[in-house]
Amino acid sequence: MNAPKETLKVRLAAALDAGIDGITLAAGLHLGSMGLMEEHPRFRDAKIGIIVSSLRALQLFLRKNARTGRLPDYVVVEGPLAGGHLGFGLDDWRKYDLHTIFTEIVAWLKAENLDIPLIPAGGIFTGSDATRFLEDGAAAVQLATRFTVTKECGLPEQAKQEYFKADEDDIEVNGISPTGYPMRMLKNSPGIGAGTHPNCESFGYLLDASGHCSYIDAYNREVAAHPEAKKIAVYDKTCLCTHMRNFDIWTCGHFTYRLKDTTLRDETGNYQMLSAEHVFKDYQFSKDGRIALPVPTPEGS
Ligand SMILES: Cc1cc2nc3c(=O)[nH]c(=O)nc-3n(C[C@H](O)[C@H](O)[C@H](O)COP(=O)(O)O)c2cc1C
Repeated sequence: MNAPKETLKVRLAAALDAGIDGITLAAGLHLGSMGLMEEHPRFRDAKIGIIVSSLRALQLFLRKNARTGRLPDYVVVEGPLAGGHLGFGLDDWRKYDLHTIFTEIVAWLKAENLDIPLIPAGGIFTGSDATRFLEDGAAAVQLATRFTVTKECGLPEQAKQEYFKADEDDIEVNGISPTGYPMRMLKNSPGIGAGTHPNCESFGYLLDASGHCSYIDAYNREVAAHPEAKKIAVYDKTCLCTHMRNFDIWTCGHFTYRLKDTTLRDETGNYQMLSAEHVFKDYQFSKDGRIALPVPTPEGS
């Protein structure tokens, strides 16, 4: 606890020690992450990717890590329609568009003579969407929302049904994450407003460098304001450590409201779960029947 940088270093080293093939440095990208791994014997052997939401963030990362002589092996460019935490402001995420950010980064890499595979992510809902990015220079696409309602996805069945049921108005980008990053989720997530006792010790997550958590402040404020109350509600922040663990914050992508159009309802009114293979194959064909993504060769042929 209270030592996020050291903890990150230990976790990265543990993954490399264990022989992991690749690491994607994601949400809350630590600009010094490469430096934390540079002494490791597998630093130049494992693949290392990063997620950025702007050209500026990519430039900063490359500048900060230049002395390690190690470029990322791939860059995920995550736009404002992605699920979970966003690399945009709470009030301005609507102003940005993945394709524009992606195109800017493609042009800059070309001008700098840098050959780093780009992987756009966030709102790529169909094979046609994927085709557009692949034709415009993407090496791959990163997808999540379509796979949240597959049998293979580890979310509880109830959460998957809530994703299917959601309309556009049922999804919000709010500021309740104590990380300070805006986060997209279903408005009816049970964790919103829950006055959960902070569980920092039991779940061992870390926030800022001094171990500070804005949920603890919000919780203590409510407890002080309602000393007699058996149960309190905290709306401005949430205990993400508890609720992510319990699947009570239903974080989701912007296009979750389109999932209902990808399946059928059974006689009880429940939406039928899909298989990951079904969703994957659906992506492979764009609307006009062209192959969007490579079709794997059948085994034995
Ligand atoms: C339910 C859900 C949880 C996610 N959690 C994380 C996460 O913990 N860390 C992260 O970097 N991205 C997370 N993402 C973002 C995805 O990795 C991905 O970049 C993005 O959502 C892809 O867009 P799509 O969901 O529109 O396909 C999450 C996405 C979803 C849908």
